[in-house]
Amino acid sequence: MQGFTIRPLASEEELRRVIEINMVTLPEHYPYFFWLEHFSLWRDIFLAALVGEEIVGYNMCRIEYGIGHVRKGIVKQGHVVSIAVLPEFRRRGIASALMLKAMEVMKEKYGAGEVYLEVRVSNEPAIRLYEKLDFKKVKVLKRYYLDGEDAYLMAREL
Ligand code: ACO
Ligand code: ZN
Repeated sequence: MQGFTIRPLASEEELRRVIEINMVTLPEHYPYFFWLEHFSLWRDIFLAALVGEEIVGYNMCRIEYGIGHVRKGIVKQGHVVSIAVLPEFRRRGIASALMLKAMEVMKEKYGAGEVYLEVRVSNEPAIRLYEKLDFKKVKVLKRYYLDGEDAYLMAREL
């Protein structure tokens, strides 16, 4: 379904709106400097989804060098740090579009060879979204979250 647009976050005012969305959609929150660091350094993979004038979702990513999760050796990796869509706007392809755009920029602009993320083992909607996008569960990160829940590390080639 269409009716939304995806584009990089444009201002610190929009960043504050993204943080509000994070507060109501996810248990993982971050200090302001952490958001600002991503907005400053990787703005073209810090994406907003808009319906009309309103931001209804975001995808905050970064670029790292690390030991490959799906490729061998040290590789340039895109890291999806946090993605969320407001409940009223779910199941219309917005998160998929946010992921596809971020992966395109990670590959084309940054030359990343793979993309990875962590997700709660209980977060079935998100796991299904990632599996639909060809991510695979690479390993379990025991007690990854503050409340003791495990994470799947999921990754795919770019
Ligand atoms: N139940 C089952 N499958 C689902 C669900 C669900 N509730 N939601 C999405 N999916 C799967 C489906 O296969 C769906 O395709 P379909 O609608 O054709 O069946 C596919 O994912 C794509 O769905 P989208 O519409 O693109 O996803 P949406 O815009 O609804 O956003 C998201 C999905 C981001 C997981 C949303 O539910 C959300 O914001 N959840 C709360 C925040 C969250 O958990 N974020 C991820 C944390 S992990 C991280 O940030 C790295
Ligand atoms: Zn992470």
